[in-house]
Amino acid sequence: MTKHITFLIASCFLIAISCKNQETVQVYETQKLIDVDSMAVVTAHPAASKIGLAILEQGGNAVDAAIATQFALAVCYPIAGNIGGGGFMLYRDSSGQVSALDFREKAPRRAFQDMYLDSDMNIVKDASTLGALAVGVPGTVAGMEAAFLKGSRLKDWTKLLQPAIDLAENGFKLTPRQAKNLNNSQRKFRKANVTTSDFISRKSFKAGQIFTQKDLANTLRLIQSNGTDGFYKGPVAADIVRCMELQGGIITAEDLEDYTAKWRDPIAFDYKEYRVFSMSPPSSGGVVLAQLLNAIEPYPISDWGFQDPRSIHLMVEAEKRAFADRSVHLGDPDFYPVPVDTLISKDYTLKRMETFDPSKASVIDSISASALESEETTHFSIIDPWGGAVSVTTTLNTAFGSKVVVDGAGFILNNEMDDFSSKVGEPNFYGLVGAEANKIEAEKRMLSSMTPTIVEKEGNLFMVVGTPGGSTIITSVFQTIVNVIEFNLDLVDAIHNCRFHHQWKPEFVFLEDGCLPEETRKTLSALGHELKSRSSIGRVEAILVDENSISAVADNRGDDDARGM
Ligand code: DON
Repeated sequence: MTKHITFLIASCFLIAISCKNQETVQVYETQKLIDVDSMAVVTAHPAASKIGLAILEQGGNAVDAAIATQFALAVCYPIAGNIGGGGFMLYRDSSGQVSALDFREKAPRRAFQDMYLDSDMNIVKDASTLGALAVGVPGTVAGMEAAFLKGSRLKDWTKLLQPAIDLAENGFKLTPRQAKNLNNSQRKFRKANVTTSDFISRKSFKAGQIFTQKDLANTLRLIQSNGTDGFYKGPVAADIVRCMELQGGIITAEDLEDYTAKWRDPIAFDYKEYRVFSMSPPSSGGVVLAQLLNAIEPYPISDWGFQDPRSIHLMVEAEKRAFADRSVHLGDPDFYPVPVDTLISKDYTLKRMETFDPSKASVIDSISASALESEETTHFSIIDPWGGAVSVTTTLNTAFGSKVVVDGAGFILNNEMDDFSSKVGEPNFYGLVGAEANKIEAEKRMLSSMTPTIVEKEGNLFMVVGTPGGSTIITSVFQTIVNVIEFNLDLVDAIHNCRFHHQWKPEFVFLEDGCLPEETRKTLSALGHELKSRSSIGRVEAILVDENSISAVADNRGDDDARGM
């Protein structure tokens, strides 16, 4: 195929700022769409996309590019990119074999079920989200090493770390959005830390300002020289433990030394002529996605059309049922017998949808989980010239995680403990409720919604997709797939169009501000849906491999950027 790069008129965005004298300073140029021949990287930040693509150009495969990208995001996208958090990777190798890597954080050994409750058994405000007690044992560095050992083509770990080290050492320009996010988080950074760091400033952060992270560069050098031992042992581990001791956290040296990433069987299921691979527990993403697609499969949704009230009503009703199940049946499979096979079976979902009424919204309390026998994350999608693909969703949980910065080591720790169910039936940060399956236990992984996904069509790679967004992750991936497969939208329209979301509780259909024509809203309300506007939902990064073309698309809701060749 001849090489050609297409920019949609609207696909090229200048991230720019206006100075007082009206002069415009260019910070970055981002590409929202690129048509490519054989390789592409789509991430939340142009610097990370460029680094990933450079690795592909040097002969690296999708795994190599993913590792370099993950470390680059830890530097240039500190709101969610991380070495102090965790995530999940779906990996399709050049022979078409798909594997799932779990590098999710886990509860420290000293964690226990009621650790965020006071003596009256009420949740202590902020305890699971802000400060050292909110931190789960990080998984990212172990995850990257596991991916490297299994799939690297370059077999040169040093090379994969170097771009991130350079970025931390020399700095990068903050985008307007990044400066704003850092400024908005100053109070919390100060509250969560007894020491200062690159993330705390007396003057406000400015767009275009060069942001350097010397301590982080040194930490990355230790990881570069020693692999996981450079993080889970030695000076960095000692810094983490000291930070915990100083600030009321409970992670110990043993917790760090014992952490391992785990290869798991992906969730795999058929939707019409497509085969979908997504993340298995401890993420709920793949199971819930399977339930959602199974639920809509028998209906003529493509005839009804994109954003038709009938299509939205069906999708929302499927979401209510799947999220009700999530609240009860999903958790870490090493601690709780998650009934995966039942939940993703077509028969099960058909039964679940027997109560679906095309003329009426069901009341959430009438749904509850079926009895069975038995805002910030980041996503990146990559394809390589050998048919390989990687789909990674990674996070610190909320923006800048626990806000705790490891003194001397220069990185932010997650607040992933909030993804456990601190108390039965009490919503977490994302309004999600849980119970026994997701209660806090020592060394258990907290339930996630992250849904890195790879879709095949007739055995060939078709789509790589994922997004941040807490509980809305699963429904955003669902909508993107349905938009492409059922509504025939091109990838830009499938991603840039507005989204909706229902998660069983609370009883709202959330809509992005301005989403849906008035007429459609009225029809949905008449069916009994309560609509609630909210800020943007998700930041989808996807690659579509069609018969004649490959397109990589970055979401237009942020600084996201697609690169490729
Ligand atoms: O694992 C999860 O489901 C959450 N910690 C993800 C958080 C998230 O997506 C925040 N992003 N906007």
